[in-house]
Amino acid sequence: MNVLLVGSGAREHALAWKLRQSPKLTDLFVAPGNAGTAALGTNLPLKAADVEGLTKAAKEHRCELVVVGPEDPLARGLVDRLAVEGIAAFGPSQAAARIESSKAFAKGLMKRHGIATARSAVFSNRTDARNHIESLSEPPVVKADGLAAGKGAIVCYSKEQALRAIDLLMGEDSAFGTAGQTVVIEEWLGGRELTAHAFTDGRTTLPMPFSCDYKRALDGDEGLITGGMGAYSPPGWLDAETAGRIDEQVTKAAVDGMMAEGTPYRGVLYPGIMVTPDGPKVLEFNCRFGDPEAQVLLPRLKTDLLEVCLAVANNRLHELEVEWSAQACVAVVLASGGYPEKYRTGFPISGLAQLEEDVMVFHAGTALADDGSVVSSGGRVLTVAALGDTLTEARAKAYHNVQHIHFSRCHYRRDIAAPAQEARVD
Ligand code: AMP
Ligand code: GLY
Repeated sequence: MNVLLVGSGAREHALAWKLRQSPKLTDLFVAPGNAGTAALGTNLPLKAADVEGLTKAAKEHRCELVVVGPEDPLARGLVDRLAVEGIAAFGPSQAAARIESSKAFAKGLMKRHGIATARSAVFSNRTDARNHIESLSEPPVVKADGLAAGKGAIVCYSKEQALRAIDLLMGEDSAFGTAGQTVVIEEWLGGRELTAHAFTDGRTTLPMPFSCDYKRALDGDEGLITGGMGAYSPPGWLDAETAGRIDEQVTKAAVDGMMAEGTPYRGVLYPGIMVTPDGPKVLEFNCRFGDPEAQVLLPRLKTDLLEVCLAVANNRLHELEVEWSAQACVAVVLASGGYPEKYRTGFPISGLAQLEEDVMVFHAGTALADDGSVVSSGGRVLTVAALGDTLTEARAKAYHNVQHIHFSRCHYRRDIAAPAQEARVD
């Protein structure tokens, strides 16, 4: 079977790597892909947002399944467009993808179905939003309603900062365009952050292991919010009761809610959770795998990913048992110095071939130079992921192998899955 995979990050390289292991796979096409995916399939020079181009490519290359990595093509209706052509897809419809593409929609869904989340209010009028902030007793979190590449949530430490956030999002020259014209203002939640993921075909929901990612650029959770600087799975600090509550009262409740509202949800559902002293509460829903969470989950997946994607796309997930390795996985992101702000690219990358067993290097911002060598081409450049019998072993292996890889101005966090963090008590 031919498959088209959409996206170009380390998440998509991990998906390509896992799909490649399937005996069912014939040709793999990746649009647009990176230097890593080029070794596993054929990269197509198409933008992930090009719904028409992708649909045409899927037909032309006789792909029977399209696996969609990022949220943008989902929010643009790629899955709906493919359905018109009779092509199966792994990912939610445009209507179902609103769970991520509109925070106001997600908040409404949670309210309607009793899913625990931060108290919030939605505003499309700047004056009303500002007045609401003035009336609050604590500084809130201000979020753009629409997609903002993970940068649309502003955690405020004072009301003045919250007012400035409103101006930034809703002002004439809004930093986020139409994504910020509507804002969600919500209460700040304290606790420990956690990522849940599940495969679902809308009826059957199979939760994946839990994982944790590191959103800030610098050690000790300092610096700017990024796409993600590292991840680990499983979080040993999560108790079974809380885990069960998340599976039942968040993940399954959201999938059932979407079905009840006539917008069945298919694909990966990723609830971002804050484990608060009052129990788990939802920070956001994402309609796809997390990046870098995918890089710690997919190495732990024992079942054929292509089988899972087909079962999801064809409403047959109840027939499948999805198995996970008991091993732990730790992923460290190697970024271009300066990311998420200004950074330089085009630096040669060395040491990619010197890795130990059970260590994977997933490419993100990489490209092939004319001489066939690999050079940096983006903010997040590589993810080094390692499996181990314990988190400590996986962590040591990941960092040991990071030392083999070199490119100018490489930056990575030293504290991913550090024992002090794993054992932290809030
Ligand atoms: P979001 O895009 O909604 O996931 O927010 C990005 C990040 O902001 C989250 O991963 C959290 O670290 C933080 N955040 C979002 N909402 C809240 C909240 N209500 N309370 C505390 N932190 C939050
Ligand atoms: N790791 C966060 C995200 O993928 O949204």
